[in-house]
Amino acid sequence: MTSVIAIDQGTTGSGVHVLESDGTFRSGATVDHRQFYPQPGWVEHDAEELVGNVAQLIASAKNAAVRGIGIANQGETVVAWDAKTKRPITNAIVWQDARTHAEIEKLKAAGHEETTLARAGLPLDPYFSAAKLRWILDHVEEAKTLRREGRLRFGTSDAFFLDRLAGVFATDVTTASRTSLMNLETLQWDPQLAALFGVPIECLPEIRSTAGDFGAIDGIPVTASMVDQQAALFGHGCRKPGDAKITFGTGAFALAIAGDKPLKDPKSGLLPTIAWKLGDAPVTYAIDGGVYNAASAVNWARELGLFQDFAEIDAFDGTAIERGLVFVPALSGLGCPYWDRSAAGLWLGMGLETAKRDLVQSVLEGVALRAAQVIEAVNTLQPISPRLSIDGGLANNRYFRSFLAQALGRTLTVPVSMELTGLGCALFALIGAGLATIDTLPPEAAPQASIDPGTPLDPGLRTNFSDAVERCRGWR
Ligand code: G3P
Repeated sequence: MTSVIAIDQGTTGSGVHVLESDGTFRSGATVDHRQFYPQPGWVEHDAEELVGNVAQLIASAKNAAVRGIGIANQGETVVAWDAKTKRPITNAIVWQDARTHAEIEKLKAAGHEETTLARAGLPLDPYFSAAKLRWILDHVEEAKTLRREGRLRFGTSDAFFLDRLAGVFATDVTTASRTSLMNLETLQWDPQLAALFGVPIECLPEIRSTAGDFGAIDGIPVTASMVDQQAALFGHGCRKPGDAKITFGTGAFALAIAGDKPLKDPKSGLLPTIAWKLGDAPVTYAIDGGVYNAASAVNWARELGLFQDFAEIDAFDGTAIERGLVFVPALSGLGCPYWDRSAAGLWLGMGLETAKRDLVQSVLEGVALRAAQVIEAVNTLQPISPRLSIDGGLANNRYFRSFLAQALGRTLTVPVSMELTGLGCALFALIGAGLATIDTLPPEAAPQASIDPGTPLDPGLRTNFSDAVERCRGWR
């Protein structure tokens, strides 16, 4: 029996998974890495620690039967390194990091958002990679020196892992589509965007298909590389236009398949992006909408001492929003469809009777209601198939998922495995290794649960929530 290895290198940790040729999927070790918050709004990882974890996890799972490796990455997180030593020259700047806020506002004020929307499909926001790369060039002395010597390498974390471990300086189209530097139609770095952000194109990796050749690690070919959200989309079994998933990790990320053309509607606040490109086959596009704070908001509530154990927050009587209590989880600003970093977290409707338990209930509801806003926006642009699949830690919380179904007024499905990023990444690796095609993949497992919406939430309460969202904007 042959197999492939999938590495899920995410925001809080990394994990390894193995998919056998008979469809058996199992998960191996996981390892967390340190988070650095050097200043308010800044989030960094040690790129050396990340690549060490990736290498260690691959080594832990490899054996003679392994025919391919897939690596899923965090998305917009950037690394700068020396082409000669392959050593990072500064910490990785994580997708959540908002240090480029002022620069982004300047670009917006100068009217450049039209260009980024037209060419990359993306609004101007610190979330995307381009301004983070420019920040390194402006603030890290070694970056300037290496650039003068022609040794500076810039990329998303995947490109660093691949260069260091597999000897290939490349990224894939899904990851490149999150940088604000790739032209969504040509699938190449766009000189106008590179000039706008001041990012030297010659320092960027080659853009390749999602499943294909990415060199080899210890003799095993790397056959797929992609953003973790796109891996999850594929792992959920989403294949045709309208198929959609939402993953509740650190943030909540909804993706829906759009088809063979980018679906652009800047007014919707959704991001046209790449779902995948398999070898030489045409690219499949998706639309994407993210909420910056999901599990991060719930974990924050726990750190504040609002609850201790997740079992405590699995069931509540009634809803907090019906009692007038609302929480907007804009702890890192607002993502889709607002794209507003000036927003801050907000509780509204507290009284002397408000207890810790009410506050935590409203945090869960706030995350669900923000996700519902994103799903509604997706559904307006690309009608979603009847099946909407959810995953991630919060999808295990019974109150959260039934409130979300109620808020959306639609049935949700929860897959058997919650390791859908790993599964999707492994499926891409299987295709890249030539062991399957998109039409001959192992069959999907039946969903673990179907969550019925029951009585849908009063639309007036949804409007109250949207009003609260407006009130939290412009605060910082
Ligand atoms: O856009 C960021 C997203 O891809 C991060 O996902 O699972 O690493 O939190 P995750």
